[in-house]
Amino acid sequence: MSTFVVVGGAGRTGRRVVERLTAHGHRVVIASREAHDAPAGADVTRLDLASPDPAVFHDTEGIVISVEPPRGAESVLHEGVGQIAEIGAREDVPVILVSQIYLTRAAEHPEMTTRIDARSRGERALRTSGAQYTIIRPSWLHDLAANGVRVEQGDTGEGRISRDAVADAVVAALFDPSASGKTFELYDDAESGKPDWPSLFAALKPDPEAQDR
Ligand SMILES: NC(=O)c1ccc[n+]([C@@H]2O[C@H](COP(=O)([O-])OP(=O)(O)OC[C@H]3O[C@@H](n4cnc5c(N)ncnc54)[C@H](OP(=O)(O)O)[C@@H]3O)[C@@H](O)[C@H]2O)c1
Repeated sequence: MSTFVVVGGAGRTGRRVVERLTAHGHRVVIASREAHDAPAGADVTRLDLASPDPAVFHDTEGIVISVEPPRGAESVLHEGVGQIAEIGAREDVPVILVSQIYLTRAAEHPEMTTRIDARSRGERALRTSGAQYTIIRPSWLHDLAANGVRVEQGDTGEGRISRDAVADAVVAALFDPSASGKTFELYDDAESGKPDWPSLFAALKPDPEAQDR
């Protein structure tokens, strides 16, 4: 039975990723700073992404990072993500990072500068780590049902996205090599119907850093 580690797996998006993986019969380790009740098929282990214990990621089939640190953006979103990226490269397992939009236009949200700068460095550390990775940049998150998605690259859009849709994208990317080496933004799009993730991933441009490998 394959095991996946979801860092931030007790959060609102992370929990949805855990539900999807356990529903498909996978074992999941929720890596969290706090003790939480684990759903069936999952265990919780204490981990702070600012100082991750590599042993948590031993023998895993894939790693998801979906964290929103209340403080310490640089040590979590840059250095911590960088350490997980190195582990992903060493263990040769996919790393799926839930990031955010506005990373290339921080001036639009000065209140998020510290977080955006740290996330940008974290994204770059993952792209250049040698790991198989996918970076998913949700727009503003909400808890309503998923109702179609628009996938973009280049970080120019505005909008909202269902946490359910983000979790669907994360799980699809974990199992689809055509998502590897790619960064994309996600927006709701009620017109588009049920997402065909393999086709959406295949149509994306690889990141230049991934092409250079
Ligand atoms: N809010 C938005 O509109 C928005 C938009 C775009 C992207 N995002 C990003 O999308 C992701 C999911 O967002 P969400 O709102 O669903 O998340 P959330 O419910 O706020 O959950 C975030 C999780 O991060 C974990 N966390 C925080 N600091 C950590 C650390 N140092 N080490 C390990 N885990 C840590 C927390 O887990 P514990 O407390 O259990 O440790 C928490 O469960 C986040 O990366 C968020 O920044 C959010």
